[in-house]
Amino acid sequence: MINEVGLRDGLQNQSRFVETDDKLRLIRALLNAGVRHIEATSFVSPRAVPQMADAAELLSHLPKREEIDYSVLVPNVKGYDRAAAAGARSIAVVLSCTDTMNRRNINMSLDQTLAVSCDVIKLASKDGIAARAYLAVAFECPFEGPTSMVTVMSLAEQVAAAGACEIVVADTIGAADPTSVYRCFHTMLQAFDKAQLSAHFHDTRGLGCANSFAALQVGIRKFDASIGGLGGCPFAPGAAGNVPTEDLVNMLETGGYSTGIDLERLGEAVLVAESCTGQSLGGRWLQWKRSQQETSASGTKPLV
Ligand code: COA
Ligand code: ZN
Repeated sequence: MINEVGLRDGLQNQSRFVETDDKLRLIRALLNAGVRHIEATSFVSPRAVPQMADAAELLSHLPKREEIDYSVLVPNVKGYDRAAAAGARSIAVVLSCTDTMNRRNINMSLDQTLAVSCDVIKLASKDGIAARAYLAVAFECPFEGPTSMVTVMSLAEQVAAAGACEIVVADTIGAADPTSVYRCFHTMLQAFDKAQLSAHFHDTRGLGCANSFAALQVGIRKFDASIGGLGGCPFAPGAAGNVPTEDLVNMLETGGYSTGIDLERLGEAVLVAESCTGQSLGGRWLQWKRSQQETSASGTKPLV
């Protein structure tokens, strides 16, 4: 299962505001490719992240279909209240594994963030809203260095006890490697079912797909990815974009894993993301696809 996070993790790093209509255009392109899980926006302070100032408006215009799961990120109870009022059916809290990262990201200590995250998860459970919990900087923190597995497990157990339906182990700055990913999820699978776990990788050092494959090998079946590799984190120095959705889909489909996503149409969604952001995007699969088109004298079927 692939959860598309480009609209949130990707766009939050774009200084140029992407109009709500353009965000919706990108969402429609993703749906057209068969994407069924989308983290659409975040209910954070518009002063902290102006890109997400239209969260409620965006939610009110989303194409609604039974099979589509939209989630939204919330940093605190105020964000939860705004999201619930806007009709969110699925939310994600963000708990960084270190004190400094929580302070930089949402201006709370680790203990405060844990308490607030658990409060939000409990409120969501009461309201029948699904709650995922991000464990950010789960491999390495840009301020405090390597994260201990003991911390990751302890936080995971506490958010699960509060009622989180899924724990997203996030390599926020792209510092993980396949061996550390394998070890991490191997340990987590001693305590959690694979349906409760998800992997979130950034491609900072080109290991996004390799890390996803390591998680896949150990049993993980849920992955976050970002269309065209959009991304980064304005609060975590050195973070680059997420693993590109099209590269992940290509890797999984060629390996015989069905994603339900049409790669050619996903390529079209990258072009929409490029036109929305004014940036050149796309992972290695798109580069390869473009080079095929350029070098094909007789003309292979054009991507777009
Ligand atoms: N949505 C909108 N506004 C919010 C809010 C939310 N979720 N939470 C707080 N606010 C508002 C308060 O109402 C207050 O407004 P006012 O000054 O007009 O009265 C103001 O923000 C400050 O509130 P406070 O509780 O002191 O927040 P803060 O300044 O400590 O900031 C966050 C905390 C979480 C709101 C802010 O750091 C934030 O939004 N960070 C986003 C981080 C992010 O998106 N990271 C990337 C994703 S991991
Ligand atoms: Zn991320």
